[in-house]
Amino acid sequence: MCGIIGIVGNSSVVDRLVDGLRRMEYRGYDSAGICTINDGKLIRRRAEGKLKNLVEELANNPAPGEIGIAHTRWATHGAPTTSNAHPHATDHVALVHNGIIENYKDLRAELRDKGRTLESDTDSEVVAHLVSIEVENGACPENAVAQVLPRLRGAFALAIVFRSHPDKIIGARRGSPLVVGYGSGEMYLGSDALALAPLTQKITYLEEGDWVVVERGGVIIHDESGNVVEREIQTSGASAAAVEKGNYRHFMQKEIFEQPTVVAQTLSSYLRQADNSVALPQFDFDISSVRRVTIVACGTSYYAGMVAKYWFEQFARVPVDIDVASEFRYREPVLEEGGLALFISQSGETADTLAALRHCKENGQTIGAVVNVPTSSMAREADLLLPTHAGPEIGVASTKAFTCQLAVLAALAAHMAVKKGLMSREEEQRVVAHLLEAPACLNKALDHDDDIASMAHLIAPARDVLYLGRGPDFPLALEGALKLKEISYIHAEGYASGEMKHGPIALIDDAVPVIVLAPSGPLFEKSISNMEEVRARGGQVVLISDAKGLAEAGEGCIATIEMPEVHPLIAPLVYAIPVQLLAYHVACVKGTDVDQPRNLAKSVTVE
Ligand code: G6P
Repeated sequence: MCGIIGIVGNSSVVDRLVDGLRRMEYRGYDSAGICTINDGKLIRRRAEGKLKNLVEELANNPAPGEIGIAHTRWATHGAPTTSNAHPHATDHVALVHNGIIENYKDLRAELRDKGRTLESDTDSEVVAHLVSIEVENGACPENAVAQVLPRLRGAFALAIVFRSHPDKIIGARRGSPLVVGYGSGEMYLGSDALALAPLTQKITYLEEGDWVVVERGGVIIHDESGNVVEREIQTSGASAAAVEKGNYRHFMQKEIFEQPTVVAQTLSSYLRQADNSVALPQFDFDISSVRRVTIVACGTSYYAGMVAKYWFEQFARVPVDIDVASEFRYREPVLEEGGLALFISQSGETADTLAALRHCKENGQTIGAVVNVPTSSMAREADLLLPTHAGPEIGVASTKAFTCQLAVLAALAAHMAVKKGLMSREEEQRVVAHLLEAPACLNKALDHDDDIASMAHLIAPARDVLYLGRGPDFPLALEGALKLKEISYIHAEGYASGEMKHGPIALIDDAVPVIVLAPSGPLFEKSISNMEEVRARGGQVVLISDAKGLAEAGEGCIATIEMPEVHPLIAPLVYAIPVQLLAYHVACVKGTDVDQPRNLAKSVTVE
């Protein structure tokens, strides 16, 4: 996804636009650009690569003006070059876009036929030309935009400025989020409340299909049909400090260390400590009637769903189907009337997951959404909103959102079991007590940060790394491999320990570190047998287990990481810490860009 921001201000806007981009750089960092209006001219500055390149460009070529728009890009159509960087402009208008214009090829052909010259390979530039043509033909900005929006297919958030109207920005939202911010004598537009946090806390979330005329004194919001509508003004909880690293070197590191606090915060809204019971929000929905759960998510959120499958099946004895969102609709899933479909997403905006959610809605499923952004599209479209309280997650590689998702999903599975009469009051008390131990155990796991940092050099030179886990710790092996790939660019694979002998064992040699996740407990012996199969072939094992497990099987490993001894229910939360820290420290050894790894974006709002 990309980030967009606009300011109709009463003083110079350039520094504030750049600061807004800095707060949104996690959304994409392939290029950045800005356009202000000054002395009747559009002043456009763009740069390939990270925001610092745009800052350098602006130092050499300033952009004066009290109105402007800006963009940070995650490339979809067209390479991440300066000419493909936003804003796109004609002599009359400039715009920034987040999303994809699906019919851009037809529109490009039409524009070429009209003799227009397009400078970029992007889908976005066509919109600038279409609006410009209307303006050149005498339309006012409002009419120009109203003419063009119905012609666009796909998803977009847009912010458009007009050279001859240095008093207004027009924004539009379809499929990609856009918020309006209210200042004093100034108004703002942004992709999210975080981007606007230092400017204002008073915001309006635009609804699907809305478009808005933003002027210094206020806004006029139109719905998809062009009717003027009122939308609620809310006070955003986004704090400017949430987007600061504090004393940490990276956002990812800060977010890993926040986990005991945010998991406790999340658990406190799903569990009642006074009597160790599950206390979910009141839903107008009979969860005991659910006969099948469908879980859909992407990336790290998908692995949280995989762990939850074990819990739903074990506690609530309900069958669970789980899919990655990009595959889900295309396999023509059988969705029985009355099923519960659960969507897990940090951002609540991932396009594949959102499309799957809508598909399930159309097919009679009750929609549950485990999301970290309570104002996101998924949160709004869900029947059952199950928020995680992780706070803003800025590091592109997800960490604290994952453990908070696990906390919510464990509580939900227990709740379903209680409602189905499959979990006695005593069992419920035990389960809740174990979950409430999680924050303290996460803290203990974090105590091993230095040990993990000092062994990272053993992994950093590897070309391939294998992660093994069994049962609910198998998804952790997948998550560990994903984290390592994402931020250290080392090829890694997660495997179910017992499945390794059916293929990946052929990869084992002394150059492939094998990270074994094996908490002592019912699956320990079997996991250790699989670990021995690796060692027998010269494999270099790093064993992550508790003191008991390490005493039994730690000898002969190239390194061990000690975890606290925990109940198997919370092991996936606790064992998330060493796999996150290991990836983090290996990336630091390799000197990669931890918070903004190459080619990735925090949330992908295109399918
Ligand atoms: C992107 C991110 C991943 C994330 C995935 C799902 O690919 O790089 O870290 O897990 O999207 O995002 P979501 O916001 O839906 O959890």
